[in-house]
Amino acid sequence: MSTDKRSIEWYNQNSERYTKHVRDPNDSIFHSQYEKPAMYNALPKLNGMAVLSLGCGSGEDCLYLFKCGAKKVIGIDISSEMIKIAKSSYPECDFKEMDMEKLDFEDSSFDFVYSSLAIHYLEDWTKVFSEVYRVLKPNSYFLFSCNHPVSSAMELVKDNKDFSIRELSRTKYRKINKVDIVGNYMDRKSSFGQGNMDVTTWHKSFGEISMEAASAGFFIANIIEPLPLPSMKELSPTSYQSMMKIPDFLILKLLKP
Ligand SMILES: C[S@@+](CC[C@H](N)C(=O)[O-])C[C@H]1O[C@@H](n2cnc3c(N)ncnc32)[C@H](O)[C@@H]1O
Repeated sequence: MSTDKRSIEWYNQNSERYTKHVRDPNDSIFHSQYEKPAMYNALPKLNGMAVLSLGCGSGEDCLYLFKCGAKKVIGIDISSEMIKIAKSSYPECDFKEMDMEKLDFEDSSFDFVYSSLAIHYLEDWTKVFSEVYRVLKPNSYFLFSCNHPVSSAMELVKDNKDFSIRELSRTKYRKINKVDIVGNYMDRKSSFGQGNMDVTTWHKSFGEISMEAASAGFFIANIIEPLPLPSMKELSPTSYQSMMKIPDFLILKLLKP
């Protein structure tokens, strides 16, 4: 199944609000204090390169990649409204409305493909991986981030105005030979609604992610489980405490040999 229509609708209807959020580093601390520093740290040298960004949103990463020396940066996104904002904000880059499952580019046309927190909007990643593999030149990388499977495997067991509890746990009752499992790591599952966002994202195990990547021909060059920046401790002590123990995001760097 491709990206849920409700997710596309959400980004179209909330494009300005979402853009304001990602452009304010004190508001989007999961980006500014956690995911972006780790993604930027894992970039290869981009001087003179042709770069593609999948699910580029309002285009901030595209501008960053351009400033790192890329010769050409193209951002694609399935939301027409996000693309409108990106186009009007960053004329240095090129933006197109496109589904990452169906890339309208020639074979071997990019030196690097990047995607930040977008691939988990899809259930099956095999099409994306084979499309990215097709448009990449040999000996080039696909760097992407997604929800960490340990985190997305958890189940919301309580949610009220005072607190919420997410669990991935196993309780064994030895005397009666019974086990209670909360959460599910092994099976794919979708979840609708993330904070105040009405979007659908997918959980899958790390084994499944690596199998899908390998079946397209990729080698895993690096697996990154980021830690928050030390400055996160002051900005949000609870998120900092949580991220130091339980990863929210996973970053993979894949090589097309
Ligand atoms: C969480 S936002 C991330 C935006 C941007 N990468 C950033 O880090 O600010 C996810 C983006 O993925 C886009 N998206 C979801 N499914 C997509 C698909 N199948 N093809 C292209 N873009 C998609 C959404 O429209 C949205 O802009």
